[in-house]
Amino acid sequence: MQNLDEHTITQEVLSRMTGTEDKRLHHVFSSLIQHLHDFAREVHLTEQEWEKGIEFLTSVGQTCSPVRQEFILLSDILGFSTLVTAQNHRKPQGCTEATVFGPFHVADAPAIEPWGNISPNMPGKPWFVSGTVRGLDGEVVPNAMLEVWQADEEGFYDVQKSDLEAAQGRGIIRADAQGYFNFQTIVPVAYPIPDDGPVGRVLRALDRHPWRPAHLHFMVHADGYQRLVTHIFKQGDEYLDSDAVFGVRSSLIEEWVMHDAGIAPDGSYSAQPFCTLNFDIVLNPSSAEVN
Ligand code: BEZ
Ligand code: FE
Repeated sequence: MQNLDEHTITQEVLSRMTGTEDKRLHHVFSSLIQHLHDFAREVHLTEQEWEKGIEFLTSVGQTCSPVRQEFILLSDILGFSTLVTAQNHRKPQGCTEATVFGPFHVADAPAIEPWGNISPNMPGKPWFVSGTVRGLDGEVVPNAMLEVWQADEEGFYDVQKSDLEAAQGRGIIRADAQGYFNFQTIVPVAYPIPDDGPVGRVLRALDRHPWRPAHLHFMVHADGYQRLVTHIFKQGDEYLDSDAVFGVRSSLIEEWVMHDAGIAPDGSYSAQPFCTLNFDIVLNPSSAEVN
């Protein structure tokens, strides 16, 4: 078709894809084109704005590296990651809720023994984390594997530091046959998401802050149960209601309890005040439907 205009172009693009064999691809692309065209018509996108958009996306791509995923960050600050997470992880009441994955997970973290330390030799308040993994009916989930990762006392993940040789603030924990797990670390703090790139510029232009409330990341795997990717947040954190990436769920907020110096949960003597966190993780059976 020729002489396409702002009203006829959408239908013509859609009609060029009628032969697409992959039905899902056809569905996703048709909807994307329809919404993208509707968006341009609705805001009456100018050519300068179109150019700025192209420059922005180019810069997002150029900021990506093996240790920096600016596109995920963009998805996160637009609430898109939370939307996709929420609609793919609807769970029965009582299950631990999922939240955003974030860009700082690394595969092959070190294996940690019971009460082992995922942040050895790092400055910070000692933190003793423990809990149990259960199923929806209260049944013990034996031998779950928990990948945990967190920021340090200054709000940085190890992958953000160029001079580190070993993993810090991450580890793989095995729950025991009764579902019990524990480890030691330092208390993480609230931190700004990386805002020295194009995503940070957008946040500032929109008068938004880049902060995330303090949290600990978990990814839990257990045979017969759906994988769970989530965080535990700290009760009272000032950013709980304005998380830059919209990841907070009230069911994931726990009390991180401070204690004076004394006997710590692992039986050792802590000469400095320490913090404890105890919580249960409730997994959804694999057989449960995601709808
Ligand atoms: C994180 O919690 O690690 C994170 C999540 C989204 C964007 C940036 C960081
Ligand atoms: Fe994080």
